[in-house]
Amino acid sequence: MDVYGLIGNPVGHSLSPVMHEAAYDELGLDAAYVTFEPAPDHLRTAIDGAAALGISGLNVTIPFKQDVLDQVLPDETAADIGAVNTISFEDDRVRGYNTDAAGARRALSHHGVDPSGKQVVMVGAGGAARAIGYVLARAGSHLHVANRTVERAEELASFLDASAHGLPALPELVPEAEILINATSVGMEEDRTPVPPELLHGDLTVMDIVYTPLETTLLTAAERAGARTIDGAWMLLYQGVAAFEVWTGRTAPVDAMNRALRSGLGEERS
Ligand code: ATR
Repeated sequence: MDVYGLIGNPVGHSLSPVMHEAAYDELGLDAAYVTFEPAPDHLRTAIDGAAALGISGLNVTIPFKQDVLDQVLPDETAADIGAVNTISFEDDRVRGYNTDAAGARRALSHHGVDPSGKQVVMVGAGGAARAIGYVLARAGSHLHVANRTVERAEELASFLDASAHGLPALPELVPEAEILINATSVGMEEDRTPVPPELLHGDLTVMDIVYTPLETTLLTAAERAGARTIDGAWMLLYQGVAAFEVWTGRTAPVDAMNRALRSGLGEERS
């Protein structure tokens, strides 16, 4: 049996096991996906131990995504972003990937959205924003980063060759935008939106990374304004799809993974 898993702290509410095991079932693979929660100062021994035990692959989440970099051979995307969320244990190599970036790209393309040449406003400048912004910059969008802490926006924007703003600039930026992305945690388990609803309009595609709830206050307001919406489960799904494909070399059963993820999210809510 091939063993895959997730390391993070905490990992209790992760939907990755449900999503990946649905893929194994669908394709009849003899594999399991388990979660591990090492203490932060045990990361190094956890990775060494996983390699020694013959574990095939690990997803990596908070707080380990940056620290794990010096234990893996990162691909170009992971090295550029400075974070790894997927590790593949191969013969004598431990390779690192960042499938959050692929997840953002594939979530957009699933909805027929091509960021190339588009005016894009991304709210947020944390780890998630870095992976998403990398994809947008690579795709050749005109990117504007707006963040509560302007210094963080400036740091990320200089990496991405984007413009940097504080949140008070949103009334100038959003009316001109074609794509709006919430890459902050605002709206998670709360009735708040990072962008005032009156700024939203029908020429926008609005993507949210928050998936609890799926219908965030931002997306509800976006729908009301006639915008196209992409909920937070899509990026979560496609980072898992990309990890599955790195590990197995097979095309992922996207529909089965999506059904399992969304039914898991439904259960979380009730
Ligand atoms: P992640 O790795 O999930 O992106 P992070 O690095 O902690 O997490 O980043 C969180 C993002 O959400 C940041 O852009 C943060 O803004 P600051 O850089 O100003 O902290 C943003 N964020 C979190 N809570 C917020 C709030 N109440 N209002 C506005 N932005 C918020």
